[in-house]
Amino acid sequence: MFEQIERVPGDAILGLIEAFNKDTNPQKVDLGVGVYRDAHGNTPIMRAVKQAEALLLKNEITKSYIGSHGDPRYGQVILPMVLGEDSPVLAEKRVSATQSPGGTGALRLAADFIKTNLPGKGIWVSDPTWPNHLGIFQAAGIPLHKYPYVDAENRLDFDGMIAAIAKIPHGDVVVLHACCHNPSGFDLSKDQWKKVLEVVRERDLLPLVDFAYQGFGDGLEEDAYGARLMAESLDEVLITSSCSKNFGIYRERTGCLIAIAKNTEQMENIRSQMAIVARENYSNPPAHGSAIVCEILTSAELAAVWRDELTEMRDRINGLRRDFVDALKPYGLDAQFAHIAEQRGMFSYTGLKPDQVDHLRDEFGIYMVRSGRANVAGLASENLPYVAKAIASAVK
Ligand code: LMR
Repeated sequence: MFEQIERVPGDAILGLIEAFNKDTNPQKVDLGVGVYRDAHGNTPIMRAVKQAEALLLKNEITKSYIGSHGDPRYGQVILPMVLGEDSPVLAEKRVSATQSPGGTGALRLAADFIKTNLPGKGIWVSDPTWPNHLGIFQAAGIPLHKYPYVDAENRLDFDGMIAAIAKIPHGDVVVLHACCHNPSGFDLSKDQWKKVLEVVRERDLLPLVDFAYQGFGDGLEEDAYGARLMAESLDEVLITSSCSKNFGIYRERTGCLIAIAKNTEQMENIRSQMAIVARENYSNPPAHGSAIVCEILTSAELAAVWRDELTEMRDRINGLRRDFVDALKPYGLDAQFAHIAEQRGMFSYTGLKPDQVDHLRDEFGIYMVRSGRANVAGLASENLPYVAKAIASAVK
């Protein structure tokens, strides 16, 4: 039977890890997969995480199952982080958290929930979006559509976005990136979020807010503006949250699907459905990452250490954005790439074309996604002049 099965190309983002590791160029630079890197190119374990793990090693008393919704303590610490300590949605007891294997797992939970419980509804993603959004929603069998987000000149196409959302069929699902838009780095202003809310309301859409980078844009609270606006203004909202990046626990697969309903009764109904979706996919989520997060967020001391480290990471990325544009100045390219300093989060849509990205890889050992997406965290003061020179060579 297997003889009819064809080989398919690997994932374009994860494939870059392997290609980069194989490259023997001593000057190679990895601007590919979205993991944070320090000034030495490492992805270290955060100090707060190490301390939490030491406590877990000492105090953990069981490895038994944690249940389909995961560790209840995890929901208790993540919901206030995402929605705000004083969120009316929390006070109204109309929100539920289902822990998942990372943000990807939360998206798949949302997708399967939509497919089963909202039959016939389409889902709308930004163009461009994280490529795995397409894979996840298609795998779940949901009709997939796109709305414009970045124009041909590599700028946020907000008018195009609004015009397209205003035509989405009533009741469909619209995926919104809470912050640090992946892949573009173009985020919405507060006024733009308000406009999106207006249109979402008019069309009676269900927002699915993908919140994978809380704390990487402008701050934990600032980055939550759009997600909280939706949560507080609408009866029904889905949010996928991830601790992969902001706690640096990528491989521990720690995230959750947050479901907001009109009232407690409806919330409990959909919560029961989420448990079934989780059970049928993987039964229980992994526990180590959520235990780390709980340990940190329930200790004032560890939480303070973690917040400082997150601030360091965010400041480093935002500083690199400015330094990157400065490094391009000697080549007269600073105006062409000025948007890099304005974008937010790990990623920047550089505006480089696929053949230019190939040139960077082949001639300089610089790796980024062929869409022109660069992980800014992969830059460092040592490699900036090299990367700037390579870009000048690619665009000439
Ligand atoms: C990325 O976009 O690079 C990250 O979200 C990692 C991934 O899973 O694709």
